[in-house]
Amino acid sequence: MAEKPSILVTRRLPDAVLERIARDYEGILNEQDVQYSASDILELSSRADAILPCSTEKFGADLINALPARVQAIATYSAGYDHIDLGAAKARGIVVTNTPDALTDSTAEIALLCLLGAARQAHNAGTILRTGQWDRWEPTAMLGVELTGKRLGILGMGRIGRGVAKRARGFDMEIHYHNRSQLEPALEQGAVYHEQPEEMLPQVDILSINCPLSPETHHFINAERIASMRDGAILVNTARGPIVEDSALIAALRSGKIAAAGLDVFEGEPAIDPAYVDLPNAFLLPHIGSATVEARNAMGFHCLDNLDAWFSGKAPPNRLV
Ligand code: DGY
Repeated sequence: MAEKPSILVTRRLPDAVLERIARDYEGILNEQDVQYSASDILELSSRADAILPCSTEKFGADLINALPARVQAIATYSAGYDHIDLGAAKARGIVVTNTPDALTDSTAEIALLCLLGAARQAHNAGTILRTGQWDRWEPTAMLGVELTGKRLGILGMGRIGRGVAKRARGFDMEIHYHNRSQLEPALEQGAVYHEQPEEMLPQVDILSINCPLSPETHHFINAERIASMRDGAILVNTARGPIVEDSALIAALRSGKIAAAGLDVFEGEPAIDPAYVDLPNAFLLPHIGSATVEARNAMGFHCLDNLDAWFSGKAPPNRLV
């Protein structure tokens, strides 16, 4: 029998995924789920035909260029791939795959939680309850705004952006979007396309960020673009933290220019800007967009589908380079 390919799995993955790895591969596992450094990855990958990392491990050009010749593929356990230098991988002839379909529903659902959490002051109201400040029902306290009838702008109308739109339609929201290209009418479902994001920003009540992080989107939401938004707009980010310039958003949340934010991702996470923590109008989550049993299993299975295809001479379904 041919030897099983060997894969370096950089984090502890769900049991169902580990079972499949044990069946089909020689897994170099991280039972204790320690955070590997680049030198740990280099050392462990000397025995690996492929690497299965998470977005918590950065594969910059230096690391990719130093990987042993034996490593043929990097199958990231994530939809996002901003932590991998695709150009460097391509130059080295290393195949890179991701898991774009596995977490669409899970992440779209967390975006709706962020929309609702921000719009209905969930953090502030919850804090009032938990700290014993709730002494009576008040007609004018803890007032949020309804999603119903509001204009939702979606920045990035890929799978997750469309998943957010689909759910927001259930709240009778009017959907606007910016995307690199306009969608087919069947996918657009009546959403209003804005070729320029700057044209959309002043027209929406709530902005949901669902685009990938790239040099073009890094700090895209800055002071100038926030100034162009409606007074009292709401901002939701479930994509990648560095798309938002924290200092600009924090200033806008303090002034009320942005009435509330729902954030699941942060620049420099998990070391987030401490100013967020004190803001009553910030509904904050610790990057749990894909944290469902269904999504986390599917992410692992998609990684393995990609590797199975590669090691059996077929095209990996989610090949990036
Ligand atoms: C993803 O898959 O991109 C999630 O944000 C986890 O990294």
